[in-house]
Amino acid sequence: MTITVTKGGLFDSGAELLVIPVFAQGEFESKQLKSFDEALQKRAMKAAKALDFSGKLGQSLLLPVPAGSNADDVLLVGVGEKKREQIVSGLREAAGIMVTTAKRRGLRTIAIDLTQKDFKEDAAEALATAALLADYTFETYKKGNPDKKLGTIDILAADARMVAAMRKRVQHAQTVLDGVTIARDLVNTPAQEMTPAHLSEAARKIAEASNGTVSIKILNREECAELKMGAYLAVAQGAHHEPKFIHLTYTSPRPTKKSLAVVGKGVTFDSGGLSLKPADAMMSMKCDMAGAAAVIGFFATLARLKPRVNIHGVIAATENMVSGTSIRPGDIVHASNGKSIEILNTDAEGRLTLADAMTYILKEKPDAMIDLATLTGACVVALGEEITGLMTNDKVLGRQVLEAAARAGEKMWELPLEARYRDQINSDIADLRNIPTSRYGGSLTAGLFLQEFVEGKPWVHLDIAGPAFAERPMSSYLGKGGTGHGVRTLVDFVEHY
Ligand code: BES
Ligand code: ZN
Ligand code: ZN
Repeated sequence: MTITVTKGGLFDSGAELLVIPVFAQGEFESKQLKSFDEALQKRAMKAAKALDFSGKLGQSLLLPVPAGSNADDVLLVGVGEKKREQIVSGLREAAGIMVTTAKRRGLRTIAIDLTQKDFKEDAAEALATAALLADYTFETYKKGNPDKKLGTIDILAADARMVAAMRKRVQHAQTVLDGVTIARDLVNTPAQEMTPAHLSEAARKIAEASNGTVSIKILNREECAELKMGAYLAVAQGAHHEPKFIHLTYTSPRPTKKSLAVVGKGVTFDSGGLSLKPADAMMSMKCDMAGAAAVIGFFATLARLKPRVNIHGVIAATENMVSGTSIRPGDIVHASNGKSIEILNTDAEGRLTLADAMTYILKEKPDAMIDLATLTGACVVALGEEITGLMTNDKVLGRQVLEAAARAGEKMWELPLEARYRDQINSDIADLRNIPTSRYGGSLTAGLFLQEFVEGKPWVHLDIAGPAFAERPMSSYLGKGGTGHGVRTLVDFVEHY
């Protein structure tokens, strides 16, 4: 899909679907359409009354076009209240409705009027972002029956200055969305194909396409054993597919002293291991590499965005499977920082892989570290399916990530790293146990476990178990399956870091 920004009239655009965003300001009044012809205003008034349309979020109204226009339909779409902080999220919702309406009616070209003074360049970016998210389909295994993709969206801006400003932001959205799409494809690809080797090749392709800004190192099992990654390799020991430890490095072409490490959980399938998951809980466990997918998608944007910070991306990729060589409940392993871990539940495997990934990357002395992991079902219980749990040992860094998420339109909420719960992961016979002694607060004790491997470095842990994979549509613009959650926040974060 191409998105253009032009200065011009909606009815001269030549598009099939003409879209007019409408704010909710009490009852719908035709003066909201004062720049359009009178016949349209009258028709809109009548339909709005009859169908109770007022511009509220989620509402839309499809109207026949006025005489003399070649378009197929006019769509009024609600963007909710006219409040500064709400316009952008309102437009995202509106964009989703606009795209689904066009697709349902078999229309491939859209023009949308953003000439009102309340719409600035951030509105164009939000619209483009949500439209691209809404247009996403995963077609690899569905060749016989392809879903229709949109052709073009033309955004109409008020004046030449706004055209230029909006164009820049739309292009930015397109770059970011390329990364999000890569992440979604990786998550949606079934685990039979999305093996650690396949994941590492996807990362290699990103590095190869980066004009030398991103380099990659992939370690095999023996190399990880030399680095004494006993926790990660314990998870990998039961799997038929070989583990791959992936280290991406982005070196900013602009001078910088700042550096960041981003760590993604890359369990390509989580059966639970010998602590086997029930069948229902396993159905979506190809998504257990969504943190890794977000890291790879994020790296795909870096060559073009060129943020002024050096960035490491780390993924300890493996399956968590059942076999005669699987790790057993009760076994004790040693992580690469020397800590011994009693494994009492093989389904709490993510923290084991992350322990060695984080220890490894701290040797590069990053200024800060962010990990993204589909880590605990408990986080989904706590915050529901759409919100990421954020835990941090650094208030400032945590706030920066929360602010980035809010701007990017990804929902995150802070959970505490409660020191009083720390003794729940003490083992009688090792330094740590991989599951807590209490049934409650499982996300927090998982975060506390990870904290044992951050050596006091400013760090943010993002438990993305809920929003990484949508079991049902998450908004008007984010459908089922892999969401690429995290990519947009990471981009925004490094651009403000
Ligand atoms: N991959 C799962 C967590 C998960 C659950 C991700 C639902 C996405 C959706 C993780 O490895 C896991 O199984 N965690 C266990 C931990 C428990 C054994 C302490 C869980 O949440 O039940
Ligand atoms: Zn698990
Ligand atoms: Zn898992």
